[in-house]
Amino acid sequence: MQAVSDTLGRPLALIVLAAGAGTRMNSDLPKPLHPLGCAPLVAHTIAAGAALDPARLIVVTGHGADAVEAALADIAPEAVTARQSPQLGTGHAVLQAAGALQDFHGDAMVLYGDSPFFTAETLQAMRIARSAYDIVMLGFRPKDPGRYGRLVMDGDALQKIVEFKDANAIERAIDFCNSGVLCADAATLMGLLKQIINDNASGEYYLTDIPELARAAGLSATAITCDESETIGINSRAELARAEAQFQAQRRAEMIDNGVTMQAPDTVHVALDTYIGRDAIIEPYVVFGPDVTVESGAHIRAFSHLEGCHVSQGAIVGPYARLRPGAEIGNNAKVGNFVEIKQADIAEGAKVNHLSYIGDATVGERANIGAGTVTCNYDGVMKHRTTIGADAFIGSDTMLVAPVTVGAKAMTASGSTITTDVPDGALAISRAKQVNKPGLAVKLRDRLMAIKADKSKD
Ligand code: UD1
Ligand code: MG
Repeated sequence: MQAVSDTLGRPLALIVLAAGAGTRMNSDLPKPLHPLGCAPLVAHTIAAGAALDPARLIVVTGHGADAVEAALADIAPEAVTARQSPQLGTGHAVLQAAGALQDFHGDAMVLYGDSPFFTAETLQAMRIARSAYDIVMLGFRPKDPGRYGRLVMDGDALQKIVEFKDANAIERAIDFCNSGVLCADAATLMGLLKQIINDNASGEYYLTDIPELARAAGLSATAITCDESETIGINSRAELARAEAQFQAQRRAEMIDNGVTMQAPDTVHVALDTYIGRDAIIEPYVVFGPDVTVESGAHIRAFSHLEGCHVSQGAIVGPYARLRPGAEIGNNAKVGNFVEIKQADIAEGAKVNHLSYIGDATVGERANIGAGTVTCNYDGVMKHRTTIGADAFIGSDTMLVAPVTVGAKAMTASGSTITTDVPDGALAISRAKQVNKPGLAVKLRDRLMAIKADKSKD
């Protein structure tokens, strides 16, 4: 028997199976790419495995391989892919990783790309169990064992796994089920896989034959247990929708435990990579898309939508604010209602409080952006930048036609269309001069009333 520290010290290769057809999703999008918490399903499996600090990551692709591999280049550039074509079963899928493991000495762990909820603690427990057993499987006791493979145990020893289709009535009565996760020495696993045959109800090469083959070779096998909620696999849109609810509930609970205030957690939607700091306040109905960081003590008010942005300490965003990719909100800055910010730095203490669009811009410290201000950043072909200096005051309804710079402590008059740079400290006025015509309003109204009266006679 190996010491636990030896087992945990061994290099680990993760093998993620993501080649299956996913027919029941009824989709042109390959199943591993369906989003959960704004991230592809397979990214969740990889994130769970990443907690074990694997030395190698191999993803077995097949159905929709081009698209899955292109996405993997983003999700996990370190991943090696192995194609499985045709897809002849889970055992055959794992065998495709053999080439990528030829020079590898250590353990291999098999995870499914459509099972997003495994926890680091459970996967770590499997590694610890490896110090006493050659093959470790992960089992669970579901409320409804349904069509899962059954784990046939003798005490702590795993005798074999029987697929539901191949099981007799006694085996079907077993409630200890196979999650699909397996951990074994990589070379041992590959050796055993070569012995698998497809003489079963599905005509597939089953990974689940491994424990029995291992025992026949004089090796030992066991299964550890996890909660059913960790093993959920996604096979249909309905399961994906239920998984989304589970993911959201889990993530929000973790955030609340970590010191985030959520007044109505059920209405807040987060992504796999959402980070919210301690003492941040999240009001009801806030949506976090991918790549959002909210620092400690920031306050996100109701009905705001954030993606690809960073909100610094003490900043207040919303209600009804939209932060798009590249929005960088500085310490104690304010972004108010019906304000959209894209690719823009709003520096410390700056305010954009009402009804504005700030895109491709830099707003200096303590600058005040009046209601209805628009950075006119797009000429129909190219995008241009607007730069606003520290302590500048942009009057309401200012159109800033980029590229343009408004200097530090400069002002623009309300309703101005600013097309040329404003020097530091200057006031820019760019609007037609007002003319008042005494009595003309009354005269005009009387004339219009007369016309209306004439028309109603017709
Ligand atoms: C499998 C297990 C079953 C277990 C269940 C848990 C086998 C034979 N059975 O059954 O014991 O209870 O998972 O959910 O392993 N895949 C490939 N290539 C293939 C076939 C599958 O990559 O040729 C991938 C799929 O994309 C999926 C995973 O392997 O990610 C599981 O495949 P699936 O067909 O869902 O296996 P089950 O029949 O559910
Ligand atoms: Mg399945």
